[in-house]
Amino acid sequence: MTDHPQDQTPARRNFYGRVHGKTLRASQKQYLAEDLGRVRLPGVTVEDNPERRPLDIATLTGGRPLWLEVGFGGGEHLVHMAVRNPDVFLIGCEPFVNGVAMLLGKIREAGAENLTIHPGDVRDLFDVLPDACLSKTFLNYPDPWPKARHHRRRFVTPGYLDLLARVMKPGAEFRVATDIPDYVRQTLEEVPPAGFTLVSQTGQGAAWEDWLSTRYEQKALREGRDPHYLTFRRNG
Ligand SMILES: C[S@@+](CC[C@H](N)C(=O)[O-])C[C@H]1O[C@@H](n2cnc3c(N)ncnc32)[C@H](O)[C@@H]1O
Repeated sequence: MTDHPQDQTPARRNFYGRVHGKTLRASQKQYLAEDLGRVRLPGVTVEDNPERRPLDIATLTGGRPLWLEVGFGGGEHLVHMAVRNPDVFLIGCEPFVNGVAMLLGKIREAGAENLTIHPGDVRDLFDVLPDACLSKTFLNYPDPWPKARHHRRRFVTPGYLDLLARVMKPGAEFRVATDIPDYVRQTLEEVPPAGFTLVSQTGQGAAWEDWLSTRYEQKALREGRDPHYLTFRRNG
């Protein structure tokens, strides 16, 4: 198998992360069965939209600004942002089905309706987003891929960043949180050439004012690693 995510067409892209985890609880199976059909965004998968027609964003958002969270994990940050920002519409992407089930439980609890999800690879979503439609993107604790030979699997590589840059509005904010110093290094090296400018870089105790700490951040803190928060703006 090749290891060049940027060389893959949508149907043939390599995805290296986990899709299934521990056995789902009965309640989680119920959320998936009852809620996923309503919460998921149609027209994103190749099966659903083989011509890769761009999504109708005005209809989706009702004219509200559109934000994206890449790899929402258990969904706590995504739901927090949806509840906190009723005048915004959010899309979350997450291929890990256990995370999707957790998110659906949180949506039920919060009663949030201003969000939708693609339960899969964010690159499938990028393919069908029109140019310059996103006002904000969150990348919280992306998979670290610690081995040097796997660094090109990271999100902060041209195979992902060029796709992201196309769909971000000029001036749109791109936030990256990570506990891995080498991920900070690669983010600072690779994000600006993709068309972004660094706005701020802070550490523990100095997160964004509307930040909600995620499961992976909590794990990092328990294990003695330090959070880093980077903010970029899309050029133009
Ligand atoms: C380390 S976890 C962090 C989860 C969550 N953001 C948090 O902070 O707790 C990284 C997540 O990114 C997801 N992910 C990896 N590659 C992805 C892709 N191509 N598209 C969407 N999500 C992806 C993984 O499935 C995983 O749940």
